[in-house]
Amino acid sequence: MGMLKDKHVTLYVTGSIAAYKSALLTRLLIKAGAQVQVVMTAAATDFVTPLTFQTLSKRPVLTDLFTATEGDPIKHITVADWTDIALVAPATANILAKMAQGLADDAASSTLIATAAPKFVAPAMNKNMWANPATQRNVQQLRADGVLVIDPAEGFLAEGYSGSGRLAEPATIVAALEAYLQDHTPQPLRGKQVLVTAGGTREAIDPVRYVGNKSSGKMGYALARAARDLGAEVTLISSASLTTPHNVDLVPVVSAAEMETAVNTYFGASDITLMAAAVADFRPEAIVDHKIKKQDDTSTLDLHLVRTPDILAGLGKQKRADQFLLGFAAETNDLLQNVQKKLVAKGADMIVANDVSDTAIGFNSDANRVTLLKRDAEPEQLAMASKDEIAREILLRVCQQLHLA
Ligand code: CTP
Repeated sequence: MGMLKDKHVTLYVTGSIAAYKSALLTRLLIKAGAQVQVVMTAAATDFVTPLTFQTLSKRPVLTDLFTATEGDPIKHITVADWTDIALVAPATANILAKMAQGLADDAASSTLIATAAPKFVAPAMNKNMWANPATQRNVQQLRADGVLVIDPAEGFLAEGYSGSGRLAEPATIVAALEAYLQDHTPQPLRGKQVLVTAGGTREAIDPVRYVGNKSSGKMGYALARAARDLGAEVTLISSASLTTPHNVDLVPVVSAAEMETAVNTYFGASDITLMAAAVADFRPEAIVDHKIKKQDDTSTLDLHLVRTPDILAGLGKQKRADQFLLGFAAETNDLLQNVQKKLVAKGADMIVANDVSDTAIGFNSDANRVTLLKRDAEPEQLAMASKDEIAREILLRVCQQLHLA
């Protein structure tokens, strides 16, 4: 899941009564994060208006080759080149025949033939039209040409009887695209266990109060998603309250001590450990077991803090040669010197350093600028980018370091 995010999907709606289901399909594609460009045949516009799709996709629908769009006289080529995935749903017997023959006599067929991206067809038609040898011959030709066919389902047809020819359910179509992308995206971390920590820990003072920090956990969650997208099995130990990413195992914790216990449970099986959590360095020495009351006669409260265990340094000591350990550092001055020392002192393989004196980036911001420090290599500053992009860059560097293709 999640593979459709930011993908350019061109959805071709052709003239079948199932065209109304393409509105839901458009919604599902957009919900999955895709950008959707709808192209309609003239017959399709008799069933559903372009306005429906324009409103859902927030893009003008391509229906006509010859009405020059302002500033773009060759719109079908622009759309074809923009496309990451072409999806014909519903696909009539007519469009299947045209695609099989290479006909290009309207906006839909011309854009399709100009598209180099992978193509899917989801046929929908009367059961006899589907069973017709000519249709079956065309489908066979399309399969031979590399077009992916999402088979129609058996079921109740608009004609009032049951048979094969019913458009596959929109959710099934979206799942087919996701599965295709999953199989065709390089996944250098496939088969690897990745352990990520995220969030600022909270150290209890009494049952209702704690010592905490400003960490949002966003960087750790971005790393968890990026590792998953690169094929890893991800365990996320988190003290943040953000949405758990799909297909990531979440282990919720609150304090540094809980985080340490959880990390030690999962570390042995982990190939790559990314310590993005802002673990509190100090905690109240003892947790008061009842809510501390204000005393009328005192104006101060003494809070005695003690050091928490340095989880990262502990892992650095027990790390096996086949394990990769990455830490974070927040510095305001002498960044490179301080972090180089930290790299050795903590036994990490890589440290991602944040310059927290940089006001363009912040604890709660979505963007970040970081410097990567590795052992025996020059530091590398990554360009300012979103936390998602930074996370992916960091993981690609880790893959490089581990010689994973
Ligand atoms: N870390 C940890 N356990 C702690 C404190 C920090 O595992 N008790 C980890 C963090 O997850 C992070 C790295 O260590 O990966 C940060 O190291 P730290 O020494 O805390 O660096 P800074 O936050 O930069 O703090 P300092 O100002 O003390 O250098």
